Amino acid sequence: MRFVANFKMNHTRASTLEYIDIINRELEGFECQNVLIFPPATALCEGKGKVEVGAQNAYFEEKGAYTGEIGLEQLREFEISKILIGHSERREILGESQEFVAKKFEFFKEQGFEIIYCIGEPLSVRKQGKEALFEYLFSQFTNIDTSYENFTIAYEPIWAIGTGVSATVEDITLVHEGLKKEFNKELLYGGSVKLSNIEEIAKIETVDGVLVGSASLDAKEFAKMVKKA
Ligand code: PGA
Repeated sequence: MRFVANFKMNHTRASTLEYIDIINRELEGFECQNVLIFPPATALCEGKGKVEVGAQNAYFEEKGAYTGEIGLEQLREFEISKILIGHSERREILGESQEFVAKKFEFFKEQGFEIIYCIGEPLSVRKQGKEALFEYLFSQFTNIDTSYENFTIAYEPIWAIGTGVSATVEDITLVHEGLKKEFNKELLYGGSVKLSNIEEIAKIETVDGVLVGSASLDAKEFAKMVKKA
């Protein structure tokens, strides 16, 4: 079972370093896979103990004239080799098109990064039924090389992100089974995963891990979730 924490625009460098120490302390002697955290760019650092660190975002170049972005050079400084691509907040709020997302995927694939690739539908699509749902989700794989070995799919329905209302076991199972059949990849679920629902989500057969936003921000609470699952 994989535990991934997406801090989004939360935490500072100081609080991230403290977070890593708390996780290591809380999980000492506890048998589990490493925890992977995605802090904001200003808090990137090397992983330590049970905690690995990845980038929430980066531009698809080594370095150059891309104001406000970070690239491979900046990630290498901290030995970062994992990246989140396709998150709905980047697609919806920052306006990243499928074409742009795919370019990022291709670049970081070439660099051998582990890619956590996010997909997910808005409520309006979900309401249109199964066929529309899968058509929408599969369209988010346009120009994505799904034969790349080092990538994991995170299914995160937009209506469940940050709303406190997770998708149901049936919702997750339906989508995960479809994704498993099509791509046969490791699958995460994300969208309001928290201490009170982690057990039932972790039990779903197709769920290989969780991508957690809000409930991951407190290190002690996140460690509790790891233990509970
Ligand atoms: P949430 O966010 O856990 O706050 O719903 C999940 C995500 O966006 O990755």
